[in-house]
Amino acid sequence: MKKVIFTGLGIFALVVWFASLAGLEAQANEAEMQQQASVALVTGSTRGLGEEVAKRLGAMGYHVIVHGRSIERGQAVVAYIADAGGSAEFRRADFLSLDQVRALANGVLADFSRLDVLINNAGIGSDEDGELVSEEGFEPVFQVNYLAHFLLTEKLLPLLIDSAPARIVNVSSGAQAAIDFDDVMLENWEPDGRQIGRPYAQSKLAQILHTYDLAERLQGTDVIVNTLHPATFMDTYMVRRAGIAPRTSVDEGADRVMQLITDDVGSGNYFVDGKPTRAHDQAYDKVARQRLRELSLELISHNE
Ligand SMILES: NC(=O)c1ccc[n+]([C@@H]2O[C@H](COP(=O)([O-])OP(=O)(O)OC[C@H]3O[C@@H](n4cnc5c(N)ncnc54)[C@H](OP(=O)(O)O)[C@@H]3O)[C@@H](O)[C@H]2O)c1
Repeated sequence: MKKVIFTGLGIFALVVWFASLAGLEAQANEAEMQQQASVALVTGSTRGLGEEVAKRLGAMGYHVIVHGRSIERGQAVVAYIADAGGSAEFRRADFLSLDQVRALANGVLADFSRLDVLINNAGIGSDEDGELVSEEGFEPVFQVNYLAHFLLTEKLLPLLIDSAPARIVNVSSGAQAAIDFDDVMLENWEPDGRQIGRPYAQSKLAQILHTYDLAERLQGTDVIVNTLHPATFMDTYMVRRAGIAPRTSVDEGADRVMQLITDDVGSGNYFVDGKPTRAHDQAYDKVARQRLRELSLELISHNE
């Protein structure tokens, strides 16, 4: 009788042992797959254009790092990608704090051995209510749309270069205004009816100067960087919040962004309607590009 019980227990133990081995193997496979999968970080992917791009990258097999401030919306995008058979995770960082940008970059560097795609997309149209405050005291639209992405890209550049071929896409806009290097933080600027969009347009041109500058620095690395105007007045929160009637769909903008990830598009170009296009004159001023780079390096080193 005892022997039968021992034999039964032995078989049970063996089954449990094999099952746990199989479980461990499955976990190891999953971790290995995650390591092997191409990784994409999409800033501002809790809604709008970034959300759609994140979902498409997830469907293509990338492990997607979804970013934004809203944990709830971020987790919903992650769940959508996972339900569709993809792999994603959410990382929160408020770009009004350069410390949070640094923490996001350091987390990616610590947890991933590769980064294949970086989409610098997070953005705000304006500080309409005058409520936004950058932790560092910088003009908030310039910080969220441009400076935070400059810092993020600088920090992640070594990983992108190690993962080459890799791609960076800076989501800019057709709205562009020259940077006044004597008043980058717009402290002496008085908004009038015509110029209400100046902070946004300045930040978007800064992204283009950054793209051209970076493309030159990255020559010979197999990391390409491009920028674009995705579409005009897409149906997103940013547009609706400004009281503008949407004219295009998020899908149209996402098609344009995906083109810069999948197609043979060269490096260092500004795209409109899927074609390389001339940007604001200041983007071709090498002195302005160098000034912006030097200023940005100085600004991000503030509280490091
Ligand atoms: N909509 C258009 O027609 C249009 C046209 C040309 C260019 N663009 C550009 O396209 C990009 C996406 O715009 P969208 O229309 O999709 O805007 P959106 O729907 O308002 O989405 C903006 C995204 O940016 C994130 N974000 C905003 N403030 C942030 C902060 N302080 N820190 C971190 N993340 C922040 C938001 O995340 P949380 O809400 O979770 O913080 C959200 O995921 C922007 O760069 C915009 O300039 C848009």
